[in-house]
Amino acid sequence: MITIRKLCKSYGKLKVLDELDLDIQTGETLVILGRSGVGKSVLLKHIIGISKPDSGTIDVDGIRISDLSGPALYKAIHNMGMLFQGAALFDSMNIEQNTGFYLNEHGASMSDGNYSKQSIPERVTEALAMVGLEGTEKKMPSELSGGMRKRAGLARLIVYRPSILLYDEPTTGLDPITSMHINELIVKTQKELKATSIVVTHDILSALFVGDRLALHKDGKIAYIADPDTFMQIDDPIIDFLRKTVSQDPRLLRRNK
Ligand SMILES: Nc1ncnc2c1ncn2[C@@H]1O[C@H](COP(=O)(O)OP(=O)(O)O)[C@@H](O)[C@H]1O
Ligand SMILES: [Mg+2]
Repeated sequence: MITIRKLCKSYGKLKVLDELDLDIQTGETLVILGRSGVGKSVLLKHIIGISKPDSGTIDVDGIRISDLSGPALYKAIHNMGMLFQGAALFDSMNIEQNTGFYLNEHGASMSDGNYSKQSIPERVTEALAMVGLEGTEKKMPSELSGGMRKRAGLARLIVYRPSILLYDEPTTGLDPITSMHINELIVKTQKELKATSIVVTHDILSALFVGDRLALHKDGKIAYIADPDTFMQIDDPIIDFLRKTVSQDPRLLRRNK
């Protein structure tokens, strides 16, 4: 369970998070929708503890993440993993090294406890197979397409079996078929790891595919949060637009028809 209370964050005069409250249940997939620049990435970085709020609190399974830094923070977030926007692979490492990176670096604190150095190559192969990238171990990130890089980023995340997964715009910039593949992987990962997932996106198709609940991030707050059916009925200009996007021929959305 993740509990966020009155979270505030400003950059200069820009108030990005304004007394934001949010509860995330263990085992659910929560999707956070919102326009670009509204503060979705900022919110995720606060949940994983790499950004600190001006005020307010974040508790993850009873631990006040927002108060921690250094080794204490590191220990507290060892069961969390984030897929950053753009996958953020290490260019100088091949896919096998990228995928095993966290296991090699921080293996001793892995969440399942029964890890050994010898099992790393096996777990890397398994994670790559799970995302459909078997056989790419020796390739460099620059040799892969955008969609394959996202999948490699996902393999690097799932290889250490985190119990909380954060995805920052996992489908942005991908073609529709590759996007759907990533959506399927998010659901599959969720089932396999029985994890709690938070997916930030502005892709309503992806949101509806993966989400148990949908939230709208707006004006520094979570404006609405509900199950998908209820959410899609909410009377709000942004949700009206999302509803039209999924239910109408786009030609009907032309302003000067
Ligand atoms: N480290 C930072 N320093 C200054 N401004 C930032 C920083 N991080 C984010 N911002 C600003 O906060 C706002 C929200 O950013 P972000 O969370 O990245 O939006 P998005 O919802 O598109 O993910 C943007 O206006 C951005 O420029
Ligand atoms: Mg962002």
